Amino acid sequence: MAAGNPQNTCGICTDRASPDSRDTVSMATVTYQGLEVLFSRQQIAERVAEMGAQITKDLNGEKLVMIGVLKGAAPFLADLSRTIQVDATFDFVATTSYGKGLRSSGAVKLIKDLDHSIEGKNVLVVEDILDTGLTLSYLRKLFLQQHPKSLRIATLLDKPSRRIEKIDADYVGFSIPNLFVIGYGMDYAERYRNLPDICVMPPDQQ
Ligand code: PRP
Repeated sequence: MAAGNPQNTCGICTDRASPDSRDTVSMATVTYQGLEVLFSRQQIAERVAEMGAQITKDLNGEKLVMIGVLKGAAPFLADLSRTIQVDATFDFVATTSYGKGLRSSGAVKLIKDLDHSIEGKNVLVVEDILDTGLTLSYLRKLFLQQHPKSLRIATLLDKPSRRIEKIDADYVGFSIPNLFVIGYGMDYAERYRNLPDICVMPPDQQ
């Protein structure tokens, strides 16, 4: 397990306005295409680099298999992989969940399996967001059946208040409150995945 995981916590206005200015109309909210930016592309890049440095250190020169959970994790995996300085390969899985609202909330089903065995390998599961924990709990159990040498989880965002299944990531980019976030891989009805910043979907547009 990763030691010293410096989880950044996020207040809605963190890094963009002083606490004293939150309730004023002059709050320095940054927007992109009219959407409130929660984490800018620069903040993301800096945090991803920190995560990559920690993962590199923890691997101690050993090889790695990075498993991206489609589709949302694709941009994060692409960026994170380029900050990890060991011999790494990629694989991908895709899941779907029943009873799904805006984010997953039901039983998980695998719709694309791994291409290669992970037996005896160091595995890093890469997710854009850890929400109820249903997806990662399902995947962790599935992957452990193959007896990897190690299995760690990296998630860019973590919403601990939403957890149903007891699971923690080894590497967390930002811990956030229960906001509906889009961009940098995350979607609303399949849109907005290509936004370079992580933005907040306004409640009246959900
Ligand atoms: C999102 C996200 C995670 C999952 C997390 O995927 O990418 O895989 O939900 O939610 P959970 O912790 O509640 O299980 P989604 O199913 O929306 O698919 P996508 O990645 O294709 O957007």
